[in-house]
Amino acid sequence: MAPRDPADVTDLPLERKAVLLSGQDFWSTPPVEDAGLPSVVLTDGPHGVRRQAADFDRIGLLESLPATCFPPAVAVGSSWDADVAERIGTAVGREARALGVPVVLGPGVNIKRSPLCGRNFEYYSEDPLLTGVLGAAHVRGQQAQGVGASVKHFAANNQETQRMQVSADVDERTLREIYLPAFERIVTETRPATVMCAYNRVNGVYASQHHWLLTEVLREQWGFEGVVVSDWGAVDDRVAALRAGLDLQMPGDSGAGNRLVVEAVRAGELDEALVDRSARRVAALADLVTEPTGGFDVDAHHALARELAAQCAVLLKNDGAVLPLAPGTRVAVVGEFARTPRYQGGGSSHVNATRVDDALTSLREALPTVTFAPGFTLDGSGDAAALRNEALAAARDADVTVVFAGLAESDESEGFDRTTIDLPAAQVELIRAVAAAGPRTVVVLSSGSVVSLEGWHDDVDAVLAGFLLGQAGGSALADLLTGAVSPSGRLAETIPLRLEDTPSHLNFPGEQGHVRYGEGVMVGYRHFVTVDRPVRYPFGHGLGYTTVGTGDLRVTATGDDTATVSLTVTNTGERAGRHVVQVYVATTAGPVRRPARELRGFAKVSLQPGESRTVELRLDRRAFAYWDVREGGWVVAPGEYTVQVGASAAEVVAEAAVTLAGDTVVPELTLGSSVAEWFGHPVVGAQLLEGFLASMPDGAAEVHAGMLEMIGSMPMRRFAADFGAAVPPAELDRLVAVAQAARAG
Ligand code: BGC
Repeated sequence: MAPRDPADVTDLPLERKAVLLSGQDFWSTPPVEDAGLPSVVLTDGPHGVRRQAADFDRIGLLESLPATCFPPAVAVGSSWDADVAERIGTAVGREARALGVPVVLGPGVNIKRSPLCGRNFEYYSEDPLLTGVLGAAHVRGQQAQGVGASVKHFAANNQETQRMQVSADVDERTLREIYLPAFERIVTETRPATVMCAYNRVNGVYASQHHWLLTEVLREQWGFEGVVVSDWGAVDDRVAALRAGLDLQMPGDSGAGNRLVVEAVRAGELDEALVDRSARRVAALADLVTEPTGGFDVDAHHALARELAAQCAVLLKNDGAVLPLAPGTRVAVVGEFARTPRYQGGGSSHVNATRVDDALTSLREALPTVTFAPGFTLDGSGDAAALRNEALAAARDADVTVVFAGLAESDESEGFDRTTIDLPAAQVELIRAVAAAGPRTVVVLSSGSVVSLEGWHDDVDAVLAGFLLGQAGGSALADLLTGAVSPSGRLAETIPLRLEDTPSHLNFPGEQGHVRYGEGVMVGYRHFVTVDRPVRYPFGHGLGYTTVGTGDLRVTATGDDTATVSLTVTNTGERAGRHVVQVYVATTAGPVRRPARELRGFAKVSLQPGESRTVELRLDRRAFAYWDVREGGWVVAPGEYTVQVGASAAEVVAEAAVTLAGDTVVPELTLGSSVAEWFGHPVVGAQLLEGFLASMPDGAAEVHAGMLEMIGSMPMRRFAADFGAAVPPAELDRLVAVAQAARAG
């Protein structure tokens, strides 16, 4: 059915157009025949299509049509590669077209505020730039296939505990600098078809009825023109939500919400224009509906999933170059995860994979001698002593033992948060015992978020963090272990020494309905580098099978608030590899406390042995700006900025300074402003000080200059009243007018 001009829906009777404001079931919008509008299917994502096989009247998370399970966001985050994210988006888009899905719900771009968040596997990183660039690439890829995205969960949905009620209490600077920029980048750069609002409240108001978020920020400031869809069941008050800017309520509630909307219009409490506006937006989604293309290349997409997964895993440690496993190495594989891989997270994003590779089979194909002992069972059943002894015997007979450890699906999922970052105790004991029994030990980790390496890290020779790598993760891990591919992932989240060290620790997951984002902008590595606290592995860390040198760093200002960075990277080792250039900016300029350094640019480059490449990155205004709560906007403070190239957030390998003119901010001045603000004011401060000191008795000027410090925080009104003789009220009024004129001009 060819869609008519979506504007037509507003000509329909109120009840008919209100129908468009909610789903007809769990996974689709209602068709509106009299307007020529077909039903639009919206299903999860993000790392594969989960199109429910049965009817849409129930939730059925585990009954979906087979689709490729690509590496989930936790892995893509570690790739630090927009190309990886875009290729996944493209492939998901293709499969969605094949399966008749016009809108795939993803990507998830919430920031990893705590390693405990049960849904971290669906999010990219603790850093907003990395998250935003990867999320935008995913949307670009998916939407280029004609399949709409749904960027989620807007906003400040950083935990699962009480996710449907909790109020994330976050100050505006923190929202603007940490929790909103990924959404902002994606909306402004890629025009996603939909944005999904979060379940939680933000500063006391449900995200689903948050006018400031859904209308002022999203639409008025960022120019979003698509549909705001609720997270499934996130609408509390349908009329308030519509007023705030929420267009489509999902899933359908048998029309209950729509009836409330109609009643509110009839009662004169809701402007019908708001119904028209949202109905028009939802109707426009019909343009995305196409006939299912009927199939996709299952083998090609599996091969793609394998290729991309190998670019995501992070080699954390590789003492004595134990990896890659040399041909002829006698390898013992230990750990049930080698045969029963953990490759995706639980909950709404769960994909019914077309097939699943396990590392054990792939290692056996690649190496002549591979023995196997499960070591543990995933549900903790079985004779632990016998399993352990079998594993130790295998380790003793091998040159290298590779232990596949990690978290079971029941340990982490959508819907709840973890309470610990530890590996199960039985696995820790097994790793230690294996390391003591065999000559060399490699640990491969599978988990949706970071796990602690304490208690065993120093016992082993190498650690390869796979996180969750999708359906081809097993073969991809084998490719990395054998050296068919060089590891090139970098941590997108810090691995702390202790959970207690993490910045949100004392404020996670909150209490009595509130979670206070007390660490402010000091999230993840921003905290660790600012307070100089040691971690096990910093954000950005990751090794390869080769070494890379950095040189010729040049930073050039290209305007008052922009710069370019150029540097040369050289593969100084003997193997080809991919290297991630990480550019951080550090400054103390401006009136607010800045993190010691912040990621402001990155690029992944391929290098053959001996090859050099010049990499140029542009640092835009936002790379230097902070959110000024007084100005209600981004400000680049005049001053010096150090551009740092990092091997990680904790290790600077080159740096260069640049001085920026920045913004001229004429601060607002009133009689309520402090004495210090008056005297420090860039336009009237000097005049005021001169007049003030001139009015002092001879010789008292120095004393009074000292006194100014003491009374600096006193509001000028009170200062003038109490010490009025020196500054006549008329003069103050005149100076306020001068200051305001300068501010306006
Ligand atoms: C999740 C969303 C998901 C939706 C539909 C919700 O519970 O939070 O991410 O897209 O369900 O399955």
